[in-house]
Amino acid sequence: MLKIGVLASGKGTNLQAIIDAIRRKEVPAEIGIVLSDNPDAYALERVKKAGIRALYLPAGRFKTYLEERIEKNYINVLKKEGVELVCLAGFMRVLKRDLLNAFAGRIINIHPALLPSFPGLESWKQALNYGVKFTGATVHFVEEGIDSGPIILQAVVPTKPDDTPETLHRRIQEKEHIIYPLAIKLIAENRLRIEGRRVNIEGSGLNICCE
Ligand code: GRF
Repeated sequence: MLKIGVLASGKGTNLQAIIDAIRRKEVPAEIGIVLSDNPDAYALERVKKAGIRALYLPAGRFKTYLEERIEKNYINVLKKEGVELVCLAGFMRVLKRDLLNAFAGRIINIHPALLPSFPGLESWKQALNYGVKFTGATVHFVEEGIDSGPIILQAVVPTKPDDTPETLHRRIQEKEHIIYPLAIKLIAENRLRIEGRRVNIEGSGLNICCE
């Protein structure tokens, strides 16, 4: 069983999708701990309901990243828990070198766009404002740089003429909830081979499609 740690700041629907997929035995993993930098994150409620260990760890005085001593705290807690894979699920802080090095090649993220298009915040709004016909969701490895690591899985979501940011984000999230647990499953089954920026998937049985 792959032991994962989840970092979440918000509503935690991706976290829920991971919890549910593990429960359905679709993903051979267990959640060791969930950490949040936001005491009001609904993600923490979800975890309580699911009986999973969770901790609120304040982020310190910076808005977009963790203070160095606090990042060490995150590392210690994750290591102590025996976490082998760190999953960012709506975690609103950029990770710095210490945490990246502590889990080198073992941190993944879900992003609500087809990277490398629309990195950063509120990507569904960016996509709508740009006028793209297709956007989607991306699961990728995390490295230094914003939303820039090697891509594991993507799912395509067509935009519609009458889309609002909310309707588009909702459809993107439906895809996120499929591809994030799937990416964790692939890692748990040791089916990913990384060659430079390319992540090759061993074996078949993958059928991800746009709609
Ligand atoms: C998702 O859209 C994810 O792509 C982005 O943050 C959002 C988190 O949503 N990184 P949730 O908290 O999992 O519902």
